[in-house]
Amino acid sequence: MKLLVTGGLGFIGSNFILKLLTESSNYEIINVDAELFGADHKNLSEIKNSKNYQFVKGNITNKKLMEEQIKKCDAVINFAAESFVDRSISDANPFLVSNIRGAFTLLDIVTKENKRMLQISTDEVFGSLSTGTANEDSNFNPSSPYAATKAAAELLINSYHITHSSDVIITRCTNNYGPRQFLEKLIPKTIVLAHNDKKIPVYGNGLNVRDWIFVDDHCDAVHLALEKGKSGESYNISANNEISNLTVIKKILELMNKSEDLIEFVEDRPGHDLRYSMNSNKTMKNLGWKVKSNFEDGLEKTIQWYIENPVSPNDITKALESTPWKNSN
Ligand SMILES: NC(=O)c1ccc[n+]([C@@H]2O[C@H](COP(=O)([O-])OP(=O)(O)OC[C@H]3O[C@@H](n4cnc5c(N)ncnc54)[C@H](O)[C@@H]3O)[C@@H](O)[C@H]2O)c1
Repeated sequence: MKLLVTGGLGFIGSNFILKLLTESSNYEIINVDAELFGADHKNLSEIKNSKNYQFVKGNITNKKLMEEQIKKCDAVINFAAESFVDRSISDANPFLVSNIRGAFTLLDIVTKENKRMLQISTDEVFGSLSTGTANEDSNFNPSSPYAATKAAAELLINSYHITHSSDVIITRCTNNYGPRQFLEKLIPKTIVLAHNDKKIPVYGNGLNVRDWIFVDDHCDAVHLALEKGKSGESYNISANNEISNLTVIKKILELMNKSEDLIEFVEDRPGHDLRYSMNSNKTMKNLGWKVKSNFEDGLEKTIQWYIENPVSPNDITKALESTPWKNSN
């Protein structure tokens, strides 16, 4: 099977490509990535010369390029997106371009070419839930510009399935952690700052709850959805592992033998959702997926990876920019 993976230089896309190409010889992959935030060629250095892998630099909004690439493939998995909520607060425009226009460009082409498209979405489309848990039929209530663009892409995809019978599947996942994540996100930022004995900024009181999943478990679910998913359906992916940001940070400091004195509470970000929660009963039942990693083991592997793959002082300075929404548009 020949797959077009978009955004494959980023965190989850690169883990997915590595997993698929090392665990199975049934796939050839073309990776289209525009080399934007989150992209790093080092993420795929171990397979860059594999005969089953090809990299094409390009933007998913480029219709001509995407037509050429999609014609060569059996299915498209769209990981490409602007993915950082904080940056969507300071400037939402790139999010509309990549996350809506980009997804639409792919959707329109796969529909004409009769190919399957799998859209990688997020639990953030359901917004903050003070109680209860979202299932696949729950209402969308996105709070951030990032989440709103992901919800918009989902609505378009669903409308194409109803109107044009497009062969589309949506997966929604909770917060991922693991190797190869861009430093701006909570877990890699905490690990790298702690490793360098620098202060770790915590938004507000740190009690915002996220449901954490090891990236390998997410990739397994995406693979199953591609192979066994039913067209027009969506699948929620959650490890049932709801933890507050402060607890996550304290756990990392404990595993790294660092003092909690490194924690520094800073001004909260606007519109900061208190809690996301999804259940993945449908994905477990219909796709036969289950979580394999536990949080502590996954965190240890992640810490190990960041220690073995040190970042430059320049990148650490960037990670310290804890309030990017204050940058002017
Ligand atoms: N990280 C998470 O916890 C999480 C959770 C649920 C869903 N998701 C979704 O998973 C996907 C991947 O997230 P990630 O954390 O790996 O992001 P990331 O920021 O690490 O990587 C995104 C990649 O997409 C590329 N990209 C962005 N816009 C592009 C465009 N217009 N054309 C081509 N390439 C483009 C970037 O260059 C980058 O390599 C996103 O769709 C995100 O919404 C992420």
